[in-house]
Amino acid sequence: MSSLIDTYHRNINYMRISITDRCNMRCIYCNSHLAPHLTHDEILRYKEIQKIVKAAAGLGVKNIRITGGEPLVRPDVGALIELLYLIDGINDISLTTNGIFLAKYLDELKEAGLKRVNISLDSFNADKFKYITGGGNLEDVLRGIEAAIEAGLDPVKINMVPIKGINDDEIVDFARKSITDGWNVRYIEYMPFADSADDKKKMIGIDEIRDIVTNALGPMETCGITTGNGPAKYYKFKNSKGTVGFIGAMTHNFCAECNRFRLTADGRLMPCLMRDDEIDIKGPLRAGASIEELEEIIKKAVLLKGEKHPDSDKLDLKKRQMWQIGG
Ligand code: GTP
Ligand code: 5AD
Ligand code: SF4
Repeated sequence: MSSLIDTYHRNINYMRISITDRCNMRCIYCNSHLAPHLTHDEILRYKEIQKIVKAAAGLGVKNIRITGGEPLVRPDVGALIELLYLIDGINDISLTTNGIFLAKYLDELKEAGLKRVNISLDSFNADKFKYITGGGNLEDVLRGIEAAIEAGLDPVKINMVPIKGINDDEIVDFARKSITDGWNVRYIEYMPFADSADDKKKMIGIDEIRDIVTNALGPMETCGITTGNGPAKYYKFKNSKGTVGFIGAMTHNFCAECNRFRLTADGRLMPCLMRDDEIDIKGPLRAGASIEELEEIIKKAVLLKGEKHPDSDKLDLKKRQMWQIGG
């Protein structure tokens, strides 16, 4: 069995695939609506993604996460999942979504082979939710979460980005859901992709978030989550079914455990979320590259991975925004 090992001896087996840069929401920390979007021709077709994943799987990639933009704005995501599900060696296909269309498409996604979802939710207050998302309807997301849990997707994880002065008064409410409803809630540190000093002040570090949670609800113990390939660290309250996870992208460097690279909707491999490096794979693919040639391009991208991303005060991401990379 092949493995993709990078320069720093990390085993790279997780590929995040962004299938669109479009989104049906306008979250205040994302701004995806402000930029021109990719055209139909620029975006990889599902068959093209399938071929790239075949090459990646041959090298040892096992876990796939489909992201966006918002992936469910692209038609027929189930068809893509079905194509990827059939590839030898792929054993975990998951989706990160804002949840608005989830209830609508859940049955076909599950039938196609989707194992689990991560759903973004930053407020339980309908008006605040509307403000944060630029018009989103909270009920749609809650319905999506319920449908995913009922359909037996496991685990369903809820991603919350606490933002100073906006939804930090709801931090405890989210953790409480792990006790009352068995939710797997994760706090993600706000990443200042908008690159303004004001934006940097909105971040709340995970140590502070954990203190807020334990001061209100009592101690938690560490636990390994059942399924997951990302950087979250998981805890739970005694006797609670759900978990509470922390993703300290800004204050805790987890690069030593990095296991992933990214494929953008316009066909570039990105070795790291927090660096501008990228390698074109769409050009060679459309020029007729064989699986072996695609493997060589993937290996090259993985060898480009740095040991870690620059310190947060030196981060200087110019080329792409979060919604163009898929988180
Ligand atoms: P699982 O653990 O497999 O459930 O997936 P995940 O947590 O990797 O997926 P998700 O799409 O829910 O990612 C949540 C957030 O984690 C992303 O939006 C990023 O904020 C952060 N994240 C994921 N991968 C990386 C990474 O490589 N570097 C950094 N800095 N942050 C990451
Ligand atoms: N900082 C932190 N998290 C972000 N997300 C999107 N933009 C940012 C940002 N600037 C989150 C979404 C989603 C996940 C994939 O990324 O809320 O849960
Ligand atoms: Fe990996 Fe880069 Fe993320 Fe660090 S910042 S964990 S090296 S993708």
